[in-house]
Amino acid sequence: MPSIKENLRVWNSEYHWKDQGEEWSQGVGAHNVGGSDLFWTSTLLPRINHFLPSKTILEIAPGMGRWTKYLKQHCDRLIIVDLSPKCIEACRQRFSMDKHLSYYVNDGKSLDMIEDSSIDFVFSFDSLVHADLTTLGAYLNQLTVKLRANGVGFIHHSNLNRYRIFNYLPRGILNGERLNRIISWRDPGVSAKLFEQLCIKAKLQCLSQELVVWAAPGLFTDVLSIFRKGSCETKSGNEVCKNRNFMKQCDLMSRLASAAKLGVTFDSTTFQP
Ligand SMILES: C[S@@+](CC[C@H](N)C(=O)[O-])C[C@H]1O[C@@H](n2cnc3c(N)ncnc32)[C@H](O)[C@@H]1O
Repeated sequence: MPSIKENLRVWNSEYHWKDQGEEWSQGVGAHNVGGSDLFWTSTLLPRINHFLPSKTILEIAPGMGRWTKYLKQHCDRLIIVDLSPKCIEACRQRFSMDKHLSYYVNDGKSLDMIEDSSIDFVFSFDSLVHADLTTLGAYLNQLTVKLRANGVGFIHHSNLNRYRIFNYLPRGILNGERLNRIISWRDPGVSAKLFEQLCIKAKLQCLSQELVVWAAPGLFTDVLSIFRKGSCETKSGNEVCKNRNFMKQCDLMSRLASAAKLGVTFDSTTFQP
């Protein structure tokens, strides 16, 4: 559903970026405490800590740098690539003091500007959920060349194709405002399984896939996939797990931060999920 052209229109022209993407972190956790700092520390960092620090990191689709701000502290070199010239320009200004960053605008799928075998860790969060299978496939096919021998990737993508109904809904309904509000513009053609197949085709090995309930209650709408260079025939299998408490866990961290901030005392029942 969301094509590269539509992504460009929305993120480069229509979306207001009122707080550089920080506005999305404010919605995470009912108590709205901690913002991106808390989300990075309690949710993202534990999932990728094993791969950091990394000599060279590539971030695909950084927007206005919500996660760039943290990634840049964990590498010698950080390359960011986004299809929106407006976002890349905003990052260039925001991180002008950081000389180890490089900035590129792309066409939504090309990584030609990256040297072969130069990337240790590739990261994309809260962006490629809006990318279709062809776009993800194009990125993975290039990543197999751009990653170093032990290079690893962490990519957040859609899982809506797991729910067949999204395949049969006419495009008009899928693009309709009401449904979009429910599924937050996730691509209906992507799933964990299909992403894994793309990895295999690209000679990458999916190490793990965490299916999370995010955009719609009770539905595993999103996947956090971790993969590495190397074909799967020679390595151990893909660890797939379902996390229906992803948002509850974010909320719990927010409540803990709120309690700490307010100096609230609590007992063991306060934080029951
Ligand atoms: C919702 S914003 C999120 C930005 C950032 N990851 C964050 O969490 O704040 C989506 C970003 O992805 C970029 N984007 C979408 N599709 C892309 C693609 N195929 N290739 C590169 N960038 C893309 C958009 O231009 C936009 O900057």
